[in-house]
Amino acid sequence: MIKVSVIGAGTMGMGIAQIAATQGHQVCLYDNYDGAIENAKNKLEKILNRLVEKEKITSKEKDEIIGRINFSKELAAISESNIVIEAIIEDLKIKKDVFSKIEEIIDEDCIIGSNTSSLSIASIASACKHAERVVGIHFFNPAPLMPLVEIIPAVQTSDSKLIEARKIIDGWGKISVIVKDTPGFIVNRVARPFYGEALRIYEEGIADFATIDWSMKELGGFRMGPFELMDYIGNDVNYIVTETVFKSFYFDPRYKPSFTQKRMMEAGYLGRKTGKGYYNYNAEIPKANTNRDLGKQILWRILSMLINEAADALFLNIATREDIDLAMTKGVNYPKGLLNWADEIGIKNILNQLEDLQSEYCEDRYRPSPLIRRMVKENKTFY
Ligand SMILES: NC(=O)c1ccc[n+]([C@@H]2O[C@H](COP(=O)([O-])OP(=O)(O)OC[C@H]3O[C@@H](n4cnc5c(N)ncnc54)[C@H](O)[C@@H]3O)[C@@H](O)[C@H]2O)c1
Repeated sequence: MIKVSVIGAGTMGMGIAQIAATQGHQVCLYDNYDGAIENAKNKLEKILNRLVEKEKITSKEKDEIIGRINFSKELAAISESNIVIEAIIEDLKIKKDVFSKIEEIIDEDCIIGSNTSSLSIASIASACKHAERVVGIHFFNPAPLMPLVEIIPAVQTSDSKLIEARKIIDGWGKISVIVKDTPGFIVNRVARPFYGEALRIYEEGIADFATIDWSMKELGGFRMGPFELMDYIGNDVNYIVTETVFKSFYFDPRYKPSFTQKRMMEAGYLGRKTGKGYYNYNAEIPKANTNRDLGKQILWRILSMLINEAADALFLNIATREDIDLAMTKGVNYPKGLLNWADEIGIKNILNQLEDLQSEYCEDRYRPSPLIRRMVKENKTFY
């Protein structure tokens, strides 16, 4: 048993605290905003009560889980932790400030993880005197349910701390992948075309939201269509991630955000949480055009772009081919790993599709990854 401290008792922090306490660790969940701690405690009680109703845990286990968590408004309560995981607001200045305060309290060998989605781990770690113990530990929402955790060493991180952090996360039954400290890590980078290309297809007038969603689900086997998923995530959240990735890649046109989504965000059509996004959740959902030829054209275009992104991540050594495939199946529930899927379809077919798009639109957005070209030339497969 170790002591795990979680900084920030919002959506993610609460989920991470639940995981650690369920694993039998002593947990400190800290937040300094008015009402945040009380709120987290109430929400966690409700979540655990539901698990008792569903007979996933007993009511004794529920009490034990809650009993292991020290809900605290005092940062000093994190002392003697073996690992601290930060999940506060996504703001570099505030995170750096919190990291230097954490370091004043904990022992020298305590690991400090950040759950940031979009900031560089190197920049956060730079706030610490012992930056070698800082690691990115990126959970997915809802943290107790999603198996994937991306583990991101910063340039400052020591191998021993990286191995230690991964061992702890694996010990919680999570599936961890090691990723380079680059924008969007694996999932938030490779998944961009799922949204971006779908929006582009809509903007060109090729199909409406319902038809694009139908194509991806019915013909591609994805659990949710891009527009349903954007409405679920929230157009504000999804747009900001795209914009952050776009800026972080020095405005590479591959990641260019869409005006359609920006307008949705500006109008307050955020998705399910506001009752309206691409769909109106208080009215009947429009019917899709189920023409299979059109559907295949849509699926094929989005899938080729996704595979290109996965191949480029491999080309640039962001992660191993296995980890790139695992990340997309375990972090965002894709029906297959994209590189594995490419082998099935034939890499030459993907290259042809990308070259057709590039020659039609004359846009750098569609440039095939050098790895795709090389593999076709050498007649190779990913596996
Ligand atoms: N929500 C997601 O889907 C998701 C997924 C993966 C990673 N993340 C990342 O996790 C982090 C937290 O996201 P969230 O969605 O849980 O946010 P949230 O807004 O739900 O919670 C943030 C919490 O941090 C607290 N907080 C803010 N500043 C603080 C400070 N200085 N000290 C202590 N507590 C402070 C707030 O009171 C709030 O309770 C962010 O870095 C985000 O990028 C979010």
